[in-house]
Amino acid sequence: MTSVLDDSSAQTTGERQTPSVGLIGWRGMVGSVLTQRMLDEGDFAHINPVFFSTSNAGGAAPEFDGVSAEETTLQDAYDIDTLAKLPIIVTMQGGDYTNEVYPKLRAAGWDGIWIDAASALRMSENSIIVLDPINRDVIDAGLKAGVKEFVGGNCTVSCMLMGLGGLFKQDLVEWGTAMTYQAASGGGAKHMRELLTQFGDLHGTVAAELSDPASAILEIDRKVLASQRGELDASQFGVPLAGSLIPWIDADLGNGVSKEEWKGGVETNKILGRGENLAPGVTRRGESIPFESLCVRIGALRSHSQALTLKLREDIPVSEIEQIIDSGTEWASVVPNEKDATMNQLTPVAATGELTIPVGRIRKLEMGPEYISAFTVGDQLLWGAAEPLRRMLMITIGQL
Ligand code: HSE
Repeated sequence: MTSVLDDSSAQTTGERQTPSVGLIGWRGMVGSVLTQRMLDEGDFAHINPVFFSTSNAGGAAPEFDGVSAEETTLQDAYDIDTLAKLPIIVTMQGGDYTNEVYPKLRAAGWDGIWIDAASALRMSENSIIVLDPINRDVIDAGLKAGVKEFVGGNCTVSCMLMGLGGLFKQDLVEWGTAMTYQAASGGGAKHMRELLTQFGDLHGTVAAELSDPASAILEIDRKVLASQRGELDASQFGVPLAGSLIPWIDADLGNGVSKEEWKGGVETNKILGRGENLAPGVTRRGESIPFESLCVRIGALRSHSQALTLKLREDIPVSEIEQIIDSGTEWASVVPNEKDATMNQLTPVAATGELTIPVGRIRKLEMGPEYISAFTVGDQLLWGAAEPLRRMLMITIGQL
């Protein structure tokens, strides 16, 4: 078969059975998780992957067991002509790449499907934020109407909806707040390394005292604090995270709201088909649901947690709320609101590497019978990043 890069007419004449898919940013952290998930699920059997690079065009394309790719060299991720030959492009390269390349590709007349992990196009009026277990109807309506921009949501939003989606799907939420506890992974690989290095450096500062049970804890505390306020490398996060926390994530919007907090409200609503900037073909599913956040970076490594307060539209018994949450998506799993179950099942350590989204601490609040609390944890790199994109690719090619 002629390579799609030599004969782009093949993709439009129906001659090509297996769609060629450009993959950009596959080597990074989100890209690596996505590639592994695609290998786990056998997704590569349905596509002809074309691997791109922003820095090593012409180098050898990666080889994975059982994956056949027509192109054995890495293509140039900035070469618009080459990109434009592909019917589908999936990028995990980041917002700067999207902002630079995507407009040029469309200006060159490219008519393909763009699937993107970055936030750059999320609030575009031509895009759909993809989270198919929650908004498959929105995705299908967009595809039918010819929408060609599909973007993964903010990690905290996607994980929250994967857990609490049942309540939103049944339109039971009048308003909500999320107090988040976000892992270092949300910043990127360098941030994870910095956190671990900080842990090690802090331990090194007081290792001798720790090995002596008779040493004074306040002296250990003083030395750790001196290190945190002194020589500890915090070049990624800006301030120490190990042994501390940072109650601000992403840009300062200048109105007391962080960009991460703004995303919580607008993206939740756009995913549900209720917000602003809905793509063509997506009919509004109702008024926006007020949803506020206070986003905090903590010293967890990879999974994001959040404590929610929801005002429901009705007084529903807790057992029924639990049942609605548990059956809201295949992956939501209610954890009994008890100490042992919570400690063992509702932590970043328990959730990391898992597609299951545990939801616990569900109870009525003193404010009234419609008010509930909940706590949920999700792997920031799975449902928070890679999984919705992988699934959108499979939806695009008719495999999901
Ligand atoms: N903005 C998120 C965070 C990352 O910093 O945790 C993924 O959406």
